[in-house]
Amino acid sequence: MASETITITDNRTGKAYELPIQNGTVRASDLRKIKSGPEDFGLISYDPALSNTAVCTSRITFIDGDKGILRYRGYPVEQLAEKSTFLETAYLIIKGDLPNRAHLDAWTKNITKHTMIHENIKKFMDGFRYDAHPMGILVGTLGAMSTFYPDAKNIHDLESRRVQTRRIIAKIATIAAFAYRHSMGFPYVYPDNDLSYPGNFLSMLFRMTELKYKPNPVLERALDILFILHADHEQNCSSSACRSVGSSQVDPYSAVAAATAALYGPLHGGANEAVIRMLEEIGSVKNIPDFIRRVKAGEGRLMGFGHRVYKNYDPRAKIIKKLAHEVFDVTGKNPLLDIALELERIALADDYFVSRKLYPNVDFYSGLIYQAMGFPMTMFPVLFAIPRSAGWMAQWAEMVNDPETRIVRPLQVYKGEEIRDYANMETRPEPKSSETPIAVSI
Ligand code: CMC
Repeated sequence: MASETITITDNRTGKAYELPIQNGTVRASDLRKIKSGPEDFGLISYDPALSNTAVCTSRITFIDGDKGILRYRGYPVEQLAEKSTFLETAYLIIKGDLPNRAHLDAWTKNITKHTMIHENIKKFMDGFRYDAHPMGILVGTLGAMSTFYPDAKNIHDLESRRVQTRRIIAKIATIAAFAYRHSMGFPYVYPDNDLSYPGNFLSMLFRMTELKYKPNPVLERALDILFILHADHEQNCSSSACRSVGSSQVDPYSAVAAATAALYGPLHGGANEAVIRMLEEIGSVKNIPDFIRRVKAGEGRLMGFGHRVYKNYDPRAKIIKKLAHEVFDVTGKNPLLDIALELERIALADDYFVSRKLYPNVDFYSGLIYQAMGFPMTMFPVLFAIPRSAGWMAQWAEMVNDPETRIVRPLQVYKGEEIRDYANMETRPEPKSSETPIAVSI
């Protein structure tokens, strides 16, 4: 068998280096051996978006983007969406195997027991402005939770990690619901632990004067499936943020707050909102050809299409498309569906999209469902964050337990000024940047 190595010839020196290949990777630190001279620091790999760099080994989620495969701990996401629940899937993602009945019951009980939040967290949330974005509230409140649970800093203690994991998965739904009620000016609805995880979430969102909220079983199940589909997605932007911040050995609330902040961005958790805005802008099926023409001319993107990893139909999008019809049977059809279906049909028959392997991604249909279920668009990324908390906690624990973990500290290519001496004010040249006084405002 050919040796698992690569030989690199440095044309600056004529020297050849043999580097080991492991799991289809070369260690970036091995490149340091390649030097142009004794003073040289050694070769560094340059990868600004880490698009060709593996930053860890993981056993949680597998994606084959060319084939459109997504598996959690080896289980195809299609099977989990059909047969599992979010809480069972969260157990799988975090612990590594599907639970037996006794373990699932204990896990469900342990999480459900933590759905209440401290009254001071509630008061803290009251302090946000009436129109605060619920995702901003979620980021701030998750970060603040580290002050309520100082034991969370014992990150190397298994029992502490377990408790924080249960707390985060339980309380993120309560905080998310309170953030929504806050933005609506409605009183908070306390958790109802008789209900399922998604059922209780719907109750905390939508219960008004009724004594007991009865979630519609179709919508409850649809939300559970959406939660399963969003539970993990290997080293995406927010999971990387969680691992990167967590590598400083900060408590998991701070790491998860950082992950939530990453998810807040429109290129990550905000794309499904962009899809709805795009469909509203198109307005009618008859306007689609013109819209496609503009996309092809580079005047904007077809939101909800394309993916860094999937070069095939995103497997989550397939499930969500089917689910949309079940939801619309209950809620009534989202009028934007016809535009979405026709848009997909036209795009998938168009060489521009086919040749670039641009297919619908998870966000193309999910916003339509959320909108039909009565969620405002500002809640869309929050709905993503709730289940992804399971993935973040699994990724975080894997990072904490990995003997190769060190604080994340990338390098840079410095292109700034060479050394210069501090000059007195009178002798300084005109600065390149400017700062002008503004009228004082409060
Ligand atoms: N509409 C039109 N053209 C596109 C699109 C699109 N949605 N996406 C990519 N392209 C074109 C792009 O113009 C480029 O063409 P060319 O080679 O002629 O310059 C080519 O396809 C490759 O694009 P890229 O920008 O290099 O691809 P990327 O891997 O950097 O970007 C992406 C991935 C998801 C940011 C991008 O496809 C996109 O902007 N999609 C729309 C936004 C969206 O739906 N985001 C949700 C992602 S799924 C959620 C998640 O998992 O977090």
